[in-house]
Amino acid sequence: MRYVILISGRGSNMDAILAADLPGRCVAVISNRPDAVGLLHAAARGIVTVALDHKAFPDRAAFDAALAAEIDRHAPDLVVLAGFMRVLGEDFVRRYQGRILNIHPSLLPCFPGLGTHEAALAAGVKLHGASVHFVTSVLDSGPIVIQAAVPVLPDDTAATLAARVLAQEHVIYPLAVRWFLEGRLRLIDGCVRLADETPASGALIAPVA
Ligand code: GRF
Repeated sequence: MRYVILISGRGSNMDAILAADLPGRCVAVISNRPDAVGLLHAAARGIVTVALDHKAFPDRAAFDAALAAEIDRHAPDLVVLAGFMRVLGEDFVRRYQGRILNIHPSLLPCFPGLGTHEAALAAGVKLHGASVHFVTSVLDSGPIVIQAAVPVLPDDTAATLAARVLAQEHVIYPLAVRWFLEGRLRLIDGCVRLADETPASGALIAPVA
């Protein structure tokens, strides 16, 4: 299977996916920010990179249409959002329904949107984490594929908590992408279906580092 990865910045989740030796081919990495460091990492791996600057388009619909045209040019089976910091419109999301994944740095449905680590600290939760989900038109709320939980420690700052969560993102996102590329992960009638479910699927509770 073929997949494309969409990024906006450093691309550490992209790096984790590309390093995972998955049973599929990453046919392009696309960024809405031309200065995204991740583009350099992808190019160093010999992957086609594309910068599509959202600021060059008059509105969201025009950017979404150009992005969809670029994605379709690479004919992917799967679209992987990995730190892609643009809200995508309904038409775009519908076009890729059931074949577009995102990772969000919280245990959804808690803390959608930005500032998740600050929000987790402010709420005083004892567990925080990350979620991989299918993308729907409602931000950070699609059907959940896999989650990883980490403890929130008494002396945590947003930065220390973010680092603990990110380490788990790098575990669960390649796993979810692998399941899709193996043809085991599907969205059926809005529900996540995973063939030959193993104990590794579902929630992963990470040990205290
Ligand atoms: C990650 O925390 C991801 O969950 C969030 O944005 C961050 C991107 O990091 N959506 P990276 O670009 O993958 O390093």
